[in-house]
Amino acid sequence: MADFLTEEHISKQLLEGIAAYKKKYPSNADAVRPKYPYYGRKIWEEAISAVLSGANLLLEGPKATGKNVLAENLAYVFNRPSWDISFHINIDASYLIGTDTFDGSKVVFRKGPVVLCAENGGFGILDEINMAKNEALVVLHEILDYRHTISIPGYGSIDVNPATRFLATMNYGYAGTRELNEALASRFVIISMPQISMENLERLLLYTFPSLKPKWMEQFALLFEDLRKKVEAAEISQHAVDLRGFLDAIRLMQNGLAPSEALEMGITNKSFDSCERRLIDDVIQSRIPETLESRSLFG
Ligand SMILES: Nc1ncnc2c1ncn2[C@@H]1O[C@H](COP(=O)(O)OP(=O)(O)O)[C@@H](O)[C@H]1O
Ligand SMILES: [Mg+2]
Repeated sequence: MADFLTEEHISKQLLEGIAAYKKKYPSNADAVRPKYPYYGRKIWEEAISAVLSGANLLLEGPKATGKNVLAENLAYVFNRPSWDISFHINIDASYLIGTDTFDGSKVVFRKGPVVLCAENGGFGILDEINMAKNEALVVLHEILDYRHTISIPGYGSIDVNPATRFLATMNYGYAGTRELNEALASRFVIISMPQISMENLERLLLYTFPSLKPKWMEQFALLFEDLRKKVEAAEISQHAVDLRGFLDAIRLMQNGLAPSEALEMGITNKSFDSCERRLIDDVIQSRIPETLESRSLFG
């Protein structure tokens, strides 16, 4: 991963900052190596700066802009264990902090992810934080504040390990989300996540599908760009087009499915409007011939 940061041309000062942090907070737990590297120097540098300054970091942006990938990558480069806390499900204070349970002979306190993270100097990934219900907000306000303790009702309080960081993600305006209230927003520095650049998309494709032929690598990257332009021009909705579906489609091709069918499954069929589907199909066919076979893509 250090090589990867060098390849990303992260500034020397920030690399030294990471090294100093790791020296200050040696970790014996192994950080999990993320499945994908995050590509994008500017965002990397902003995020590393935030972590080094001790701020809580909120990654805000549309689906499949790499918010979770970046959060996992950050925990990895800082060599910290991470706790993933998704606010999709109904989370309340006792889930976050912990709760009394009966172990068969006596009542014991079972620590929740926030307490475990804070004790171990982990990176807490607060996923889709704008879906947090009121029952969770009180706890969030407390842990994101610059108080260095977390109170556990009935048990006193614990000291927050100074290596601890909280990273949050949110997709503004996504179904079920709410506006992030001001009190919560004020506790973060915020990065607005951009769509991956064309150049970085090619790097991601090369990493994910090393056997994809360069010619098709380029065509796929261009296809994604074409579709994105249509979204920007509001000719098609952003519903159908996201990087996740696009990568899924190429994965289907890798498993032998014809490109036209794979793209239909990963992209076109995500639109439920027949006009829009035709538009998407036209864009696809101008880059990827309908008769193309998957085995001619790889090798
Ligand atoms: N800049 C990027 N660098 C690397 N991967 C990216 C980037 N942007 C999007 N992705 C890819 O998009 C997919 C979704 O990423 P994820 O982090 O789950 O998105 P989000 O949390 O923003 O919805 C992953 O396959 C990821 O590799
Ligand atoms: Mg996500």
